[in-house]
Amino acid sequence: MPEYETHEYDVLVIGAGGAGLRAAVEASSMGARTAVITKSLLGKAHTVMAEGGMAAAMGNVWPQDNWQVHFRDTMRGGKMLNNWRMAQIHAQEAPDRVYELEEWGALFDRTPDGRILQRDFGGHRYARLAHVGDRTGLEMIRILQQRGVHQGLDVFAECTINRLFKDSQGRIAGAIGYRRETGELLLFKAKAVVLATGGAGRIWEITSNSWEGTADGHALALYAGADMIDMECIQFHPTGMVWPLSVKGLLVTEGVRGDGGTLKNIDGKRFMFDYIPAMFAAETADNEPEADRWYNDKTVRRTPDLLPRDEVARAINSEVKAGRGTEHGGVFLDIASRRSPEYIRSRLPSMYHQFMQLAGVDITKEAFEVGPTMHYIMGGVRVEAEKQGTAVPGLYAAGEVSGGMHGGNRLGGNSLSDLVVFGRRAGMGAAEYALGLTSAPALDQADVDERAALMMKPLEGDGRENPYAIHTALRTLMQNKVGIIRTESELQEALVEIASLKERLTRVKAGGDTKYNPGWHLALDLEHMITVAEVVTRAAIERKESRGGHTRDDYPNPSPEFGKVNIVDRLGPNGVEVRQEPLPQMPPELAELFADGGDDAHG
Ligand code: FUM
Repeated sequence: MPEYETHEYDVLVIGAGGAGLRAAVEASSMGARTAVITKSLLGKAHTVMAEGGMAAAMGNVWPQDNWQVHFRDTMRGGKMLNNWRMAQIHAQEAPDRVYELEEWGALFDRTPDGRILQRDFGGHRYARLAHVGDRTGLEMIRILQQRGVHQGLDVFAECTINRLFKDSQGRIAGAIGYRRETGELLLFKAKAVVLATGGAGRIWEITSNSWEGTADGHALALYAGADMIDMECIQFHPTGMVWPLSVKGLLVTEGVRGDGGTLKNIDGKRFMFDYIPAMFAAETADNEPEADRWYNDKTVRRTPDLLPRDEVARAINSEVKAGRGTEHGGVFLDIASRRSPEYIRSRLPSMYHQFMQLAGVDITKEAFEVGPTMHYIMGGVRVEAEKQGTAVPGLYAAGEVSGGMHGGNRLGGNSLSDLVVFGRRAGMGAAEYALGLTSAPALDQADVDERAALMMKPLEGDGRENPYAIHTALRTLMQNKVGIIRTESELQEALVEIASLKERLTRVKAGGDTKYNPGWHLALDLEHMITVAEVVTRAAIERKESRGGHTRDDYPNPSPEFGKVNIVDRLGPNGVEVRQEPLPQMPPELAELFADGGDDAHG
């Protein structure tokens, strides 16, 4: 019989990024015994890599801004696939969450008259990203962890959860995981679980995601019986580093373009003017590329360098394909010719150091190479908008692991605000649920022991498959066949190859024992990644159109029919089941906001 280090909580939060910490702060403030589990060290979650800011219609730079405009931008950016109610709550509550962080100690950049400064980002009509230089995510984590620790949260650092358990009534009852350092098994009895595990970027070869982004939460939810929504919608951030190879994919914040940087091809041409889609043309007609927008409060002047990310990533892809890319397969991003070295160093300190130290390039003097990098998965666990509950009683999800909020494409800056708006709501929902239960759902010990035995399998037996080789094959496959541009035949080939990887995984062997053994950790993560890769691929086959972060070469346009549905997936008795479901109906007072043609993404 395996031995377990056993703990009991009302609310177990899996993930210590912005959503997880905000959920935990909320749940514990309501009196729920709460623990946070993090694969990494506290303070190192991938949220720290969200650089440019958090979007909130505070109207500090543009007084005309308000939640309705933010809501409209978010829906249009998401190509109208978004859960409208989530987008509405997000736009309405984001300013309060910014002020809350400020009250808790966040040191936001300031306007000359002392208000929180807001910067430009793609797809936002007005400059609305509250920021701390280009280190906003880091500041958010610093504040939330400080708050949580003082509030008495229990933190399990360097621990990974492998499965959730339910009781005989189908309610969440707990989770099993392990300590990464020692390999000791951890058993949590919990009335409610909040998934806040972030993204799935490590399924792709080129990604801005850090090592933890292995789709754990998506897989845990699927295995527990929850639905996924719009998993085909994957965001390739237009600007990752392309050189040197060791840092390929590393994020180059959109703040560079927000603060005046422009994209150029190898001929020095600002090519984005050739890629302005019809739905944005009206707003870009008065564009003055050299205008400094910062304190121009008379007219909104937009630059196509700040179109939504899906548009910019596809444009870069096209330029490179057409032979107008740089030596290392990217394009140039140039801020040096429009901004002074002092301005660049003060507004973008991390970018300055990143390029100087990693690539030997001084961005205050020269243009630098960038290219698309898998950054974010818009799809995720299907949740209800108010409290982030899933189809499984006791299971909640918030942040990147959840789906619906961002539709087909997320606007930059909407992630940090999403984390705290819905992290708070998920924490509240989970605590209310857990505190309302009269007794704790019972764990089935046989389930637990069976799972523990399966977790040990990669260390036993005479399998010869190397986990790193399987991971590399998966990443290459997803990059090449389920990447920025997709076709039916390549997606079908991907499914066949995923099945073969699944089979190889049954023979995976990690050398060594359970003590700090990254090969074993990866072998366990691979089950999650391969499951989620299949869900993404099947969803991508189902959506026969191009929309947001899902581009089909064989269906290059948006289709009116597919513009009316979400793609919903779950694990059934025979594997992944995919279905189409009508979008929730938007109430007339919100639909009116699109009366001037803003809803033309319906096709
Ligand atoms: O470009 C960035 O700074 C990323 C921010 C985001 O994804 O929201």
